Amino acid sequence: MGEGRGGEPPFVVLGVGAGIAAYKAVEVCRRLVDAGMHVAPVLTEHAQRFVGRTTFDALASEPARVSVWEGGAPIAHTRLGQLADVVVVAPATADLLGRAAAGLADDLLTTTLVATRAPVVLCPAMHTEMWEHPAVQENLSVLKRRGAVVVPPDTGRLAGGDVGTGRLAEPERIVAAVVGALSGRERVGHARDLVGRRVLVTAGGTREPIDPVRVITNRSSGKQGHALAEAAHRRGADVVLVTTTSLPTSPGIDVVRVETAADLEQAVAGYGAADVVVMAAAVADFRPVAAAGTKLHKADGPPSLVLEPTPDVLRGLAARRRVGQVLVGFAAETDDVLERARGKLAAKGVDLLVANDVSAPGVGFDHDTNAVSILGADGTLTDVPLTSKDAVADAVLDRVVALLAGR
Ligand code: CTP
Repeated sequence: MGEGRGGEPPFVVLGVGAGIAAYKAVEVCRRLVDAGMHVAPVLTEHAQRFVGRTTFDALASEPARVSVWEGGAPIAHTRLGQLADVVVVAPATADLLGRAAAGLADDLLTTTLVATRAPVVLCPAMHTEMWEHPAVQENLSVLKRRGAVVVPPDTGRLAGGDVGTGRLAEPERIVAAVVGALSGRERVGHARDLVGRRVLVTAGGTREPIDPVRVITNRSSGKQGHALAEAAHRRGADVVLVTTTSLPTSPGIDVVRVETAADLEQAVAGYGAADVVVMAAAVADFRPVAAAGTKLHKADGPPSLVLEPTPDVLRGLAARRRVGQVLVGFAAETDDVLERARGKLAAKGVDLLVANDVSAPGVGFDHDTNAVSILGADGTLTDVPLTSKDAVADAVLDRVVALLAGR
């Protein structure tokens, strides 16, 4: 384990939010102390309804704090943030994530989060409905963009007997993330392991014109592709994102907006030298042979659409593959997911095929969450249970980094 400043044990602020999982924060506290860290617990006011501060007083390196006005006299509200080598929040409730994303500083814990320059490790825990709510996922995206490491929740039994995603990660994983953050080798979220790599990502559903006002398209939102581009950018890559959407992107990502499969093919052809190509776009398989030049009118009766196949961009890339290049394909399926994915992995000639069952709740189109299986041409299979699209992106990139390392 690393050391803090000046050879002192690392100074860890352990933030505890008001969730039933607060009881697990006690175990996290104990393990961090056992690992040789100086642990300063900060509970939110309502966290105390779930677990008493005396428990933390007994186990931590210093007494637990709740308020900026502790003991009648104000402590310097920025002191803990300045002292911290890492701030870990477990459990991070939906409310706490919202306040942190908004930059509020309305209690000691949020003040510490705003006042620190240390790495921040967030361990969300909440009911599945709350975890999947766009507000929560967007807040997490904001916090990750600012550099926070997120330890995603597990799937399992939740408070009240429900089963789903939202259970606080096991203390062991939380401690590992804290150790990783301290040593600058954090695995979840922002390892800088793609520095110097050129990564091309495609995202969104193509739109094939029928006439000047109508198109054939699909349900792809582009969110997973955008999450991949953002994650690659965070990890230090030079990223080009070819997208059909107008979703916002971080400064520093080169964005090429396209509409049709033909546009996308042309844009991709310009970046053949990329070290990694991730084809997350849902490219139309067929398009009208010729779009009408003027609007078709109802009075003319139903149009007879003659369709032709579009070029298979991914297959084309695989045929012209550069030595050492890593190609990643996607497959959105509704049935026989793994079997179809295995077929596509071979047929497309890619290194990794990311398959998802878009008929499952919370998975795929337009959700902020996803669950995927990552199949490798080397026979490997990595299952990523329901989590944020950002976490899926990092899981895919972890596999990409491993492949690049072996080339
Ligand atoms: N793809 C592509 N060009 C196309 C169609 C698909 O590059 N014209 C890419 C997608 O971006 C994705 C992968 O191929 O990475 C698989 O897409 P999918 O539509 O699932 O595969 P298809 O071969 O079109 O098979 P299906 O009959 O299931 O649509």
